[in-house]
Amino acid sequence: MKAMVCVDKLQPLVLQEVATPVAGEGEVVIALHAAALNHRDWWIQQGMYANLRYPIILGSDGSGIVSAVGEGVSNDWIGRSVIINPGMHWGDNPNFHSRNFSILGLPNDGCFATHVKVPASYIHLKPAYLSWEEASAIPLAGLTGYRALFTKGQLQPGDNVLITGIGGGVALLMLQMAVAIGANVYVTSGSDEKITRAIQLGAKLGVNYKTSGWHKLFQAAVEGFDVIVDSAAGDGFKHFIDLAKPSARIVFFGGTQGAITNINPQKAYWKQLQILGTTMGTPEEFKAMIQLFEKHQIKPVIDAVLPLESAEQAIRKMDDNSQFGKIVLKIEG
Ligand SMILES: NC(=O)c1ccc[n+]([C@@H]2O[C@H](COP(=O)([O-])OP(=O)(O)OC[C@H]3O[C@@H](n4cnc5c(N)ncnc54)[C@H](OP(=O)(O)O)[C@@H]3O)[C@@H](O)[C@H]2O)c1
Repeated sequence: MKAMVCVDKLQPLVLQEVATPVAGEGEVVIALHAAALNHRDWWIQQGMYANLRYPIILGSDGSGIVSAVGEGVSNDWIGRSVIINPGMHWGDNPNFHSRNFSILGLPNDGCFATHVKVPASYIHLKPAYLSWEEASAIPLAGLTGYRALFTKGQLQPGDNVLITGIGGGVALLMLQMAVAIGANVYVTSGSDEKITRAIQLGAKLGVNYKTSGWHKLFQAAVEGFDVIVDSAAGDGFKHFIDLAKPSARIVFFGGTQGAITNINPQKAYWKQLQILGTTMGTPEEFKAMIQLFEKHQIKPVIDAVLPLESAEQAIRKMDDNSQFGKIVLKIEG
């Protein structure tokens, strides 16, 4: 099969002919039609991720047609259109994943290829209203965003929620989910143009985080946030303590801007704030996330669709945060 392989850290992805995977017991092989990028693929290529191994086929998100099933898997799956839950072996505790938890695309080969092999328990029927490209754009980011907003953030209709860095893949899906349930959504971005586009998607107000004193603009306009969801961390995180309503939830799942610094502990505990880390989500949250998308017919925002062979060009689009929404690879066998 054809695959875009990450041969070593800091090396461009290269097109290679590699062995097509064979379905083992309990597994399926999927002939992929589309795959989507996540920031995770960028971190792995940069060599900045735990338990690295090279060569590796990146790509946690994919959609396609089941082409083969292994022992113990119903033949009825063959020919079905599916998406993949990339969060595997979560375990029994909904609060924390097991030691065996893994994400498709490291350590196991992922979706930047014509075929991928996964355990059958992680495939789900592709929502019929979505194109291949749209369906591939949802799984990892949708799952992460769903757990962050609803399980951790306890977001309710009518709540004020701040979503930072709205150009990001997870951030935009959170915007769409939060708008769909009737929350009041506010955003930050480093780009005024992205803020304008977020408002077109239902956000009430956006502020550019590059503006000095950006948090004061929110303090003047909003009485406070019930939920704040962030993946940048860094020095700007401290402002969330001031922006949060008493007993609010501040949820984070990334550290793009580095260490969180200078949090005023007195303000945080006096307001009885909950500061919550989160990662991916459970199989039940994955199902609930897909149901939410289907109920509201949410279509993910796609920044660009490139052919599989342009995966290196696609990943470079993440170097400068210029994207608005998901970057997707179209795969033709
Ligand atoms: N723990 C998990 O389970 C999990 C899951 C998914 C992602 N993540 C992490 O979450 C982060 C985002 O992932 P992604 O795939 O959504 O990335 P992405 O699509 O590449 O987006 C990254 C976004 O970060 C935003 N950003 C950059 N500097 C910022 C700042 N100072 N303040 C606020 N936002 C800033 C940018 O937003 P603007 O362009 O609007 O400025 C950019 O679009 C990454 O660090 C990723 O590794 C973690």
